Amino acid sequence: MCGIVGYFGPSQNSVEIVLEGLKRLEYRGYDSAGVSFIDEHNELQNYKKAGKLDNLKEELKGKNLIARTCIGHTRWATHGGVTDENAHPHHNDILSIIHNGIIENANELKKELMSQGVKFKSETDSESFLELVSFELRNGKPILEAISDSFRRIHGNSAFVVLYPKTGEIFAIKRGAPLVCGINEITSEALVSSDPYALAGIVHKLYFPEDEVIVHLSGGNKNLVNFYELDLTKTTRYLSKKQDMTVTVSEKGEYEHFMLKEIHEQPELIRNLTQYYFAGEGRETLERIGHFSPKRIYISACGTAAYAGLVVRDFLEGINRIPTNVELASEFRYRNPILSEGDFGIFVSQSGETADTLAAQSLCKKSGIKTLSIVNVDGSTLFRECDDNLLIRAGVEIGVASTKAFTQQALTGRLMSAAFAGDLKDENKKVALSGKFALLAERIDKLLAASDSIKTVAEAIYNYKGFFYTGRGAYFPIALEGALKLKEIAYVHAEGYASGELKHGPIALIDEEMVNIALVAPDLFEKTVSNIQEIKARKGVIVSVGPRGNQELQALSDYYIPLDFDGLEELAPLYVNVVNQLLAYYMAKFKGTDIDKPRNLAKSVTVE
Ligand code: AGP
Repeated sequence: MCGIVGYFGPSQNSVEIVLEGLKRLEYRGYDSAGVSFIDEHNELQNYKKAGKLDNLKEELKGKNLIARTCIGHTRWATHGGVTDENAHPHHNDILSIIHNGIIENANELKKELMSQGVKFKSETDSESFLELVSFELRNGKPILEAISDSFRRIHGNSAFVVLYPKTGEIFAIKRGAPLVCGINEITSEALVSSDPYALAGIVHKLYFPEDEVIVHLSGGNKNLVNFYELDLTKTTRYLSKKQDMTVTVSEKGEYEHFMLKEIHEQPELIRNLTQYYFAGEGRETLERIGHFSPKRIYISACGTAAYAGLVVRDFLEGINRIPTNVELASEFRYRNPILSEGDFGIFVSQSGETADTLAAQSLCKKSGIKTLSIVNVDGSTLFRECDDNLLIRAGVEIGVASTKAFTQQALTGRLMSAAFAGDLKDENKKVALSGKFALLAERIDKLLAASDSIKTVAEAIYNYKGFFYTGRGAYFPIALEGALKLKEIAYVHAEGYASGELKHGPIALIDEEMVNIALVAPDLFEKTVSNIQEIKARKGVIVSVGPRGNQELQALSDYYIPLDFDGLEELAPLYVNVVNQLLAYYMAKFKGTDIDKPRNLAKSVTVE
C-alpha cells in the first residue's frame, strides 16, 4: 500500500529525511514516488516519477534540495495508471497534497470543480482533494478551515497530508486509513507517516490520531504538533506512545532477503513470546484476557492471517471446546452474520491496517460483541479499535510474504487458549507450555541449520507445472499457508487441499507434471499415506514432509523431508510450516523473482 512521510523541522535536509523514510516503506509495495518541498527561496518544488525510488532520486540529482519542510509518497496505483503525472504529490501554485486510500465521490467533486473552471492534470481521485482545498483557500478561508470543510465532503477511507507553501506548515487528516505522527523534542522535529516504521529511531514520541482529527505540524511555533476537531477546536482524540529510540531500521545483515532473515528470526521470537506473556510486560494483559468467557468465537482475518486463525481455531476447539468459526474478513463483513450476546470477535492481523479486517471488526463492534486483536503493530488502527489486544511480538516484518508473523499469530493464539483454560494459575502448566515452545524453537533451529536439504528439493521441483499442498486436520491450514507462500513469491499455481478431498475432483489434475507436497503427521499417518498412494497411482510427483525414518513413506516418495515430531504435539504444524516457508523461498530464488517485494502485492492492503 502507499507510503506517506512528511517532515517539518530545523534540518535543511528534509528532502533526504523524507526519502529515507520512503525507502523504509518500500516493503509495502508501490509503483511510483514523489516529493514536494519548500526551497530556501520559499518556492514550492515538486518532483515525481513512475517506477522505483531510484528513478525519483535520479530526477533530483543536481537540484537544490535545501528545505526544512518536505512531504513524500510512494504510490500503489488504484485510480489512474502508473505515470509520472498520476504519481503523488499532486500540487498547484498554492498547495501540495499526498493521499492514501480512495475518494469514492471523486468524479462528482471533479465535475463540480471543473464547472468552476478548475483544470485537472491527472487521472487520479486524489487531485480532487487538492483542488477542493485550493478552491476554499482562493475564496479566502484560512488553511485549517479550508482543509476541514473539504475533508467533510470526502467519502470513503483516506489519509491526506497537505503541504502549505505560504507557511511551510504540514497538515494531515484521515478516516479509516493509517496515519501516525511523531516528535523529537530535543531536535524540535515533527514527522508524519502512514507507518510508525518510517519514524523509527528519529522521534521519541508517537501520536496515533483518531478519524477526522486534523494534525498540524507547526515547525516549532508553539507545540511541534497540534490536533484539532473538524470544528477547529483543540482535541485530545489521539493515542500517544513513547517510541523506543533504540528501535533501528531492520537490515538484511548476512541474509540475501528480508524473508529469509525473518524465517531465521522465528526460534528467538518463539522463545521470547512465552517470556513476554508469562513473566514480562504481557503477563497482565494475558491474565486479563483469561477472564473472558466467550460462548462462541468468530475469528476474522485475511490471507496468511486467516490461515493462522484456522490454527488458533484448532486450539480453541481442541483445548477449550469453544465453538469457533474462522471467517474471511472480505466475506464476513458482507455476510450479515448472526452475532449474539456472549459471542466474541477475534481479529488476526500483522499490520493492523487491513481494510477488510478492520471492517469486520467494526461490524462486530457495532453488534455489541467484544473484540480482541492478535496483532503485530502496536498502536495500529485494529489495535486501537479492539476492546483488548494480544501483541504477537514479531518485530517489523519487511518481507511482503508473511512468515514470522504467521508463526507468532498462531502461537499467541495458543497462549490465549491457555489463558481461557485457566492454565495461567498453574505454574506447572505454564512451565510445560514454555517447554513446548522452547522445543519448537529448538526443532526449527535444527531445521534451519539443515535447510540445504530443502533447497535441494526446491531445485528439483521448482519448474513443475503446478503444486498441491495436502494436509489433514491441524495440517490443512498449513497446506493452505504453504500454497499461498509459493503463489506469492514464486508466481506458480499452487493449491492447499484437505488430503481427503483430492479424490472428490482435484485428483483429475494429477499427472507427471504436478507436484504434491504431502504434509504427513504421525497422528493421521495411515489415512494420509493412502491419499499419497492415490496420487502416486496417477504418476503425481510426491514430496513428503513427515516423520523421520519411516521406510514406507520414504519408499512412496520422490522426495522425502524427514522431521522430528516427538514432544511438539499441538505445536507440530508450526514446525512443518517452516519447511513450506523454505521450499517457497528457494523455489522463488531459483525462479529469480523479487522475493521481498513480489509483483502486484502490497504488505498491507488498506483498501477494499
Ligand atoms: C501473506 O503472506 C500476505 N502478505 C497476505 O495474505 C497478508 O497476510 C494479508 O494481506 C493480511 O495482512 P495483515 O496480516 O496485515 O492483516
